[in-house]
Amino acid sequence: MASSEIDRSIVDRVLKDFPDPETGQSIVDTGQVSDLEIAGDRIGVTLRLTTHSAPLKESTREALEAQIRQQVSGVHDVQIRVTDLDRPAEPIGQIGLRAKTVIAVGSGKGGVGKSTIAASIAFGLKRAGCQVGLMDADVYGPSIPHLLGLEGKPTVEDGRLQPLDSLGLRVMSMGLLVPPGEAVVWRGPMLHGAITQFLKDTEWGLLDYLIIDMPPGTGDIALTLSQLLPLSGAVVVCTPQDVALLDAVKAIAMFRKVQIQLLGLVENMSYFLCPGCGERSDIFGSGGARARAESLDVPFLGDVPINMQIRVRGDEGRTAANFEDAAAAPYLEAICRRLVENASRLRRSEELPSL
Ligand SMILES: Nc1ncnc2c1ncn2[C@@H]1O[C@H](COP(=O)(O)OP(=O)(O)O)[C@@H](O)[C@H]1O
Ligand SMILES: [Mg+2]
Repeated sequence: MASSEIDRSIVDRVLKDFPDPETGQSIVDTGQVSDLEIAGDRIGVTLRLTTHSAPLKESTREALEAQIRQQVSGVHDVQIRVTDLDRPAEPIGQIGLRAKTVIAVGSGKGGVGKSTIAASIAFGLKRAGCQVGLMDADVYGPSIPHLLGLEGKPTVEDGRLQPLDSLGLRVMSMGLLVPPGEAVVWRGPMLHGAITQFLKDTEWGLLDYLIIDMPPGTGDIALTLSQLLPLSGAVVVCTPQDVALLDAVKAIAMFRKVQIQLLGLVENMSYFLCPGCGERSDIFGSGGARARAESLDVPFLGDVPINMQIRVRGDEGRTAANFEDAAAAPYLEAICRRLVENASRLRRSEELPSL
């Protein structure tokens, strides 16, 4: 085919219409496209993406290629080179936190695996190449230090608390500041002050994502956070038991009340896969969360089976190792992927899919 067959103005329009997964703005307007070459029936282009978009790198490349193939006639070969773009996070909210996306992970009650899922989301994003912070705001049962094997008090430099490092994740927990085993009994105003200070006085650096492990149930902290920061959205974790689901409904209502968008529901301890024979047992019944998510108009992010090794690794402080386990990793990875896709869709003001 002759080179004249590819209409450059159509290629330009496809690029112009394509949104950056981080900002939702045109990749041309944000200056993320360069080196466009059209030669014969071939198109080559360079697309620059930030580390915030790292989990969506491949799917974004595929989506742009599909758009070009669909809309530009006469194309045979499309080469999209994805390279890095450095675009540091701007300060957000009144406290000057420099994070691009802040996600609260909540549940209606304790013991559903909220902290395990919050930590897994944080590790999953870190593994994909993002800069991630994990803040344990569960003042009633701060379990992140236990699940990650972190000990010792955070140091203070220039009056700022330094987060602890866990495989590249920046972690801060109420549990690191309060002696272990000491019940934290704080009420409204004190709690508000503690969370505000905790978030404000921590040297988070530049973050793509801040994942917040919320205390179960109560709306106080969700309200405090929503006043301090523009939260991107919330994830609610539940188990398939009916009671837990009713608790999850309350958690969803609580986030809605303080106008925090729901990015999705996770069903944890969904079913048991026998490590010996591979047979699946629906110990608590199954699929309840997915159906409930649909009826409540909340996207379903996925399920995680009951896996004894998840519990064992949690107690050994090796929660990140779940990503090395073929019986756990694919579930956690799918949840992370859907979560960032949903957050990206929200930035483009698109409706979220039920799955
Ligand atoms: N999918 C799972 N399979 C097996 N054990 C799990 C699973 N998810 C969490 N656990 C275990 O359940 C317990 C409670 O989890 P945790 O994340 O601390 O819950 P929460 O933060 O909701 O109180 C921990 O011992 C954890 O290791
Ligand atoms: Mg917890």
